[in-house]
Amino acid sequence: MSLFRRKNVEHMLASAQGAGLKKALGALDLTFLGIGAIIGTGIFVLTGTGAVQAGPALMVSFVIAAIACCFAALAYAEFASTIPVAGSIYTYSYATLGELAAWVIGWDLMLEYGLATSAVSVGWSGYLQSLLSGFGIALPTALTAAPGAVKGVTTLFNLPAFLVMMAITALLSVGVRESTRINNIMVAIKVTVVLLVIAVGVFHVTPANWTPFMPNGWHGVFGAAAVMFFAFIGFDSVSSAAEEVKNPKRDLPVGIISSLAVCAVLYVAVAAVVTGIVPSAKFADISHPVSYALQVVGETWVAGFIDLGAVLGMLTVILVMSYGQTRVIFAMSRDGLLPAALSRVHPRFATPFLTTWLVGIFFGLIGALVPLNVLAELINIGTLAAFSMVSIAVLVLRKTHPDLPRAFRCPGVPVVPVLAVASCLFLMVNLQPVTWTAFLVWLVIGMVVYFGYSRHHSRLAHTTEAH
Ligand code: ALA
Repeated sequence: MSLFRRKNVEHMLASAQGAGLKKALGALDLTFLGIGAIIGTGIFVLTGTGAVQAGPALMVSFVIAAIACCFAALAYAEFASTIPVAGSIYTYSYATLGELAAWVIGWDLMLEYGLATSAVSVGWSGYLQSLLSGFGIALPTALTAAPGAVKGVTTLFNLPAFLVMMAITALLSVGVRESTRINNIMVAIKVTVVLLVIAVGVFHVTPANWTPFMPNGWHGVFGAAAVMFFAFIGFDSVSSAAEEVKNPKRDLPVGIISSLAVCAVLYVAVAAVVTGIVPSAKFADISHPVSYALQVVGETWVAGFIDLGAVLGMLTVILVMSYGQTRVIFAMSRDGLLPAALSRVHPRFATPFLTTWLVGIFFGLIGALVPLNVLAELINIGTLAAFSMVSIAVLVLRKTHPDLPRAFRCPGVPVVPVLAVASCLFLMVNLQPVTWTAFLVWLVIGMVVYFGYSRHHSRLAHTTEAH
C-alpha cells in the first residue's frame, strides 16, 4: 500500500496558511501571468509546421486543441482552487492520488517544463536569426540549427538557442525572477505583435489560398491539433501562483480560463491570416513563419517588428518554464524522491543553484541538438498525460474528500473531467509512434528510478504525516 501513501490535505492547507507570502494578485494579474507563459514558440514557430500538416484548416486544429485545454483547465481549476498551495500538480497529486502517481506526474512535468525551455529557445533562435538578417548579419550555417532540422542543409548546433538558455540560467541561478511588472510589459509586447500580424496581414489575404482547406484531410487536422496543443501550454502556470492570490477560489479559475480564451481567439486569427497570405505548403522548413508571411508580401518593417517582439516575448516563456522546472525538481527532492543535493539552496542567492545549472546546461544542449518538431511532440505527450491524471484526480478527490470546501467546482462532473481525459488521450493518439516510444522509455526510466531510489528515500515513508 505504500505506493499509495498520500500527503495529508488538511495538513498542507494549514501549513500554506501560515506561509506568509504576500497575497497581492487578482484575476487580471493571473490572466496576464497566463498569457505571458502561453504565447511563445507555439504560435510564432509551430504555426508553420501546423500549416503544412493541416493546411488552412489549421484554424480548426487550434479550436480542437483549445477545446481539449478548456476541459482540462476546468478540471485543473477545481484542483488548483481546492488545494491552493505552492507547487504544481505534482504537489496536488501527492495529496490525492498517492506517491506513485505523484511521482509519475512529477516525472512527466520534468519532461514538459525541461523540453519546453529547449523548444522555446529553438523558436527564439529562429526569430533572432530573422531579425539579424534584416541587418544583413548571418551566422555560419552549421551553427544555426540542430542536426537534421533543415532538409538538404548541413547544420550541427543551434548556437543562439544554447546561448539564450545559458543567459536565462545565469539570471535564474542568482535569483532573478520574472516580476509581475516585467511580465505585464512582455504580455503587452506579445499581444501587440500578434495584433499587428492580424491587422496588417488581413489586407494581404488572398482567399484562394484557403482552398483546398484540408489538403491532408482530418488526419492532418488532428495531427496538427496534437502538435499545436503546445501553443496553449502554460495556462497551468497560473495555478502555481496560488499562494499569492487574493481570492484564489474565485480568481484562479477565472485567470486560467480567460488567459486560455484570449489566446485561442488570437491563434485562430493568426492561423487564418498567415495561411491566407502564403500557400500553406510553403511554410515547410521556415523557422519564423509568422514574420516570413509578412516578408513575402513586402511588409519588411512590420516583419522586423514581429521578429523583435517575438525575440523579447519568448524570453519570458523560457524564464517561466525554467523556473517551473527547477521548482518541480526542488519539491520532489525536498520530499525525498530525488537526491537531497537537488534541493540545496545557495547560501547567498537563496536559489537551487546546482539544480538550476544542471537543468539549464542539459536542456540547453537538447535545444541545440534536437529539431523543434521532435521536441514539441514529446512535450505534448508528457503534458497531456499529466493533464489526464489531473482530471482523474478531480474525480478521485470528490470521492475521497467530498466535504473539502471548493469555491470553484468543475461543472458537469463526471462528464467534463471524463471529456478532458478523452480529449487528452485523443490528442495523444494523434502524435507520432516515435513520440510514444520515447515517452514510454522515459516512463520506464522513471519507474526504475522510483523503485530503485525514491520509494526508499521518500520522506513520507518516515513520517506520520501520511495517511
Ligand atoms: N505555449 C508556450 C509556447 O508556445 C509553451 O511557447
